Amino acid sequence: MQEKKPSDSLTILTDLVLPGETNPLNNLFGGELLARIDRAASITARRHSRRICVTASVNHVAFNRAIPLGAVVTIEARVSRTFTSSMEIVSDVWTEDRETGIKNSVGQAIYTFVAVDDTGSPVPVPQVVPETEEDKKRFEAALRRKQLSLILAGKMKAADATELKALFLGE
Ligand SMILES: CC(C)(COP(=O)(O)OP(=O)(O)OC[C@H]1O[C@@H](n2cnc3c(N)ncnc32)[C@H](O)[C@@H]1OP(=O)(O)O)[C@@H](O)C(=O)NCCC(=O)NCCS
Repeated sequence: MQEKKPSDSLTILTDLVLPGETNPLNNLFGGELLARIDRAASITARRHSRRICVTASVNHVAFNRAIPLGAVVTIEARVSRTFTSSMEIVSDVWTEDRETGIKNSVGQAIYTFVAVDDTGSPVPVPQVVPETEEDKKRFEAALRRKQLSLILAGKMKAADATELKALFLGE
């Protein structure tokens, strides 16, 4: 199967924060942001694999700054690593200043998607070749995140997570 680059499937989703999407502090409701991230990341997974893709796991989410009503929010979703049927997608979230257009990072999320056939059975995906230095760091760390996610889901024994253990034990 032909290898692909993260830029081949990059998805950028930009939208406003409207009334009805906020919490009592008039900031974007967390679940609304998660849904937007899921949409952007699933499009990236679909573009990379050219298959039906389902969300298998939310591995990490950080809401670092509140996003106020009326803000313009952009989500940039890139494939960081692929395994056999699964793909890790990292989504960076930022807002832009209305007057200057300067971008402010407000959060990040890491989701795992699995490519499936019409019956929902996992199918192989093309491998991804990292392009930038950041891509390479994320590629490297993705295996440890996958191991942690599988351990937490009860699908892997901690003893088998060689790379994850090495992070803590310095092996
Ligand atoms: C995701 C799903 C297809 C996995 O099916 P499965 O029978 O567990 O299949 P497998 O065990 O072969 O796993 C398939 C891949 O998913 C990965 N995976 C499964 N659970 C995972 C988890 N919690 N974290 C990370 N990866 C996971 C496996 O490691 C495997 O990856 P690989 O093929 O790249 O090595 C299945 O659980 C499913 O359909 N879940 C529902 C998805 C859904 O509806 N999402 C929307 C929620 S509203």
